[in-house]
Amino acid sequence: MAFRGIVAAMAALDLDSVQKVYNRYSGVYDFYFGKVFEEGRKKAIASLDCQGGEKVLEVGVGTGLSLPLYPAETEVYGIDISSDMLAKAKALKEERDLQNVKVLEVMNAQEMSFPDNYFDKVVAMYVATVVPDPVAFVNEVKRVCKPKGRIVLVNHFHNPKTLFGKVAKLFVPLSRMIGFHPNISLDRFTQETGVKVVSKAPVNLFKQWTVLVTENDATSSDESKPTTPVDKESN
Ligand SMILES: C[S@@+](CC[C@H](N)C(=O)[O-])C[C@H]1O[C@@H](n2cnc3c(N)ncnc32)[C@H](O)[C@@H]1O
Repeated sequence: MAFRGIVAAMAALDLDSVQKVYNRYSGVYDFYFGKVFEEGRKKAIASLDCQGGEKVLEVGVGTGLSLPLYPAETEVYGIDISSDMLAKAKALKEERDLQNVKVLEVMNAQEMSFPDNYFDKVVAMYVATVVPDPVAFVNEVKRVCKPKGRIVLVNHFHNPKTLFGKVAKLFVPLSRMIGFHPNISLDRFTQETGVKVVSKAPVNLFKQWTVLVTENDATSSDESKPTTPVDKESN
């Protein structure tokens, strides 16, 4: 798997280091990443187009900043690998009396304990380049989501042409310490995960993040491959 090659070549993120980083961030996460990522969270949840009675899985729910944004009729399940981040989400659920939030559980997104086709929709905000293996992560998300179900991902994707992208590249050797892969381009991501992109919209500061709306279609992997060559610099 090419992503595994990329990961190996850049001081690979592993589950243990991701867990440690986010346990460490948990106390200050909302202060630094609350407002700054809010536009993306709102847009992602609006893009889910939640209907009454649907079951939605939020992968990497973190401190639960998104939880109050779901309609009250939508059943929300949240998982995260960091127990400290999740403790904050549980406290928020209690504080806001969010009765539609059914589950908040420590679980690895790359190996979930939910049955196949369990959720109507799945969303992951700022997670796809944080997990150790983005391909395994997307495959698992597709497995637990119903066929044709909506999968919404919000993420920063590397663009080597921008100043932001050039700076981000300097952080590649620090992946383990900062807890994310800074150099995965959108083309590379869609090609290797085979997600079927329905729409994409730029969000957040300097429009450097993308809300990617996709459909869980078993035939998607062939259809979604980009026709332009993958940008070598971002690999
Ligand atoms: C950048 S934070 C995003 C949190 C939240 N979604 C938000 O909107 O702020 C990434 C989250 O993904 C979680 N995460 C990373 N790898 C994971 C994995 N393999 N399984 C489950 N959660 C994971 C981290 O613990 C962290 O809470």
